[in-house]
Amino acid sequence: MSLKVEKGTDNKTLRTPSKEIAGATAELKNFAMDMIKTMDEERGVGLASPQVGRNIRMIVCKLNPGEKNEIILPMLNPEIIEISDATEIGEEGCLSIPGVWGQVERASKIIVRYKNLKNQEQALELVHFNARIIQHEIDHLDGVLFIDRALSLKEDKGKKRKKEENQI
Ligand code: CO
Repeated sequence: MSLKVEKGTDNKTLRTPSKEIAGATAELKNFAMDMIKTMDEERGVGLASPQVGRNIRMIVCKLNPGEKNEIILPMLNPEIIEISDATEIGEEGCLSIPGVWGQVERASKIIVRYKNLKNQEQALELVHFNARIIQHEIDHLDGVLFIDRALSLKEDKGKKRKKEENQI
């Protein structure tokens, strides 16, 4: 089932910090599958639960998008446990703020810890765009939107984007 995407910079659900999840359940697994379907249909590379109406700490992400080793991962209670001092500036868009794009400074490298849908603790070291996706999604869990961090913003509502995949 596809889910309705919450939109707007002042949207209450998007601005509310999300709660920790006790552990994976069958219901959450179904919800994660619905989130993945929605992310794919909307041509995003990440989606956080508050974007589809629930303030719980779960995200889905598509790492290495468009590459041979592309992988879709649901993450429960994702947490950045190491973050590089080195940063980089890159373009971001967001399914919840359609038609707006911005340059955002993010850490180049992170280690994210999370639980998978089998309740197993995982840790992943991610760099560059993959690290950007996770930082953007964890921001959603804290009620933070990329426009809050953007160094510059531009509107591009009418134009069909060539690179839809940087919608996070
Ligand atoms: Co977003």
